[in-house]
Amino acid sequence: MTANMKTNGGPLLAIESSCDETAAAVIGADGRVLSSVVHSQTAAHAPYGGVVPELASREHLERIDDIAASAIAAAGLTAEDIDVVAATYGPGLIGGLLIGLTWAKGFARGRDVPFIGVHHIEGHLMAAAAEVTAPAPPYIGLVVSGGHSALYRFDGIGQAKLLGQTRDDAAGEAFDKTAKLLGLGYPGGAVIDRLAARGDPTKIPMPRSLRDRSHYDFSFSGLKTAVRTWVEAYRKRTGHDVEGQDLFDLCASVQDAIVDMLLHKAILACRRQQVHTLVLGGGVAANSQLRRDAVARAKDNDITVFVPPKALCTDNAVMIGLAAHAWRKLGRSSSLSLTADANAVVEAAADALTG
Ligand code: KG4
Ligand code: ZN
Repeated sequence: MTANMKTNGGPLLAIESSCDETAAAVIGADGRVLSSVVHSQTAAHAPYGGVVPELASREHLERIDDIAASAIAAAGLTAEDIDVVAATYGPGLIGGLLIGLTWAKGFARGRDVPFIGVHHIEGHLMAAAAEVTAPAPPYIGLVVSGGHSALYRFDGIGQAKLLGQTRDDAAGEAFDKTAKLLGLGYPGGAVIDRLAARGDPTKIPMPRSLRDRSHYDFSFSGLKTAVRTWVEAYRKRTGHDVEGQDLFDLCASVQDAIVDMLLHKAILACRRQQVHTLVLGGGVAANSQLRRDAVARAKDNDITVFVPPKALCTDNAVMIGLAAHAWRKLGRSSSLSLTADANAVVEAAADALTG
């Protein structure tokens, strides 16, 4: 065992590769973010209208060395300075997970430093910790992206619990599928956000599913059908695609329904769980109405909302590094035999750590 292995106290290098971002970040011994590099593969997947797993794997493999080297250099360090290495072990696309995890384990073995396997959702739940005023657990986490839409109770690292989740599409998918239907390109969330700002959200009534208070689940398939039906009727009536003010109003109405469904259950979870802090995460947390309405609705309910900056809402390695930093403060690390798990459940996150 080397001196590094014993001290475990210097900079931590974190890798994220579970979906279509290849990312690396360096976190200092004090938990400060020293660097963050994210390569988004969006352009590579855009022609296909969604993430193509094989393509994602190839991109991760081609980029990971450079991205990790860039993050280390941007922190003003060399590989020799890194005392701990961390990577996402799941959930996500198995090809991407294997590439990031294997890279990190190789680094750990080669440099004889501890390795920490991080659950991707615990990363999203920890992203707000990058801020000067970080939220203190317990808090409710609403994690909404192209791949996941779920509510968690977070009592600290290794103590996250799933409260409810989507029964069909993810919130990001609801944005992306609407955008695709309207010919707005992929991914469509940010475009809808922009167009919605010019529309009236009360113009076109959209369904809000699963309003009942007996559970914390979401459903977006009814909304998807309603949008498709409305668009088809519009085309028949007018003889052309949805355009102009009608397009703005439709985007505003769809966005309003998605945001309302998400916040209805998020606020319900806070009240039922008697937790006064709500943390947003995932790519959809970049949505301006979600950010705005979350703050307004939470205030009415005596809840404080933490919304990480957009760059920390979408997939990144800073959040993985912050989760790993929390583990190392507890003196925990992972075995090099830890395997990637595409379906890893958050309640088992602590099982990825030993000691
Ligand atoms: O977390 P993320 O980068 O990747 C995963 O899916 O894991 O999230 C991407 C998703 C896409 O569905 C995208 O349309 C959505 O986040 N998104 C938005 C906005 N920016 C990104 N959705 C609504 N409003 C936005 N401003
Ligand atoms: Zn994610």
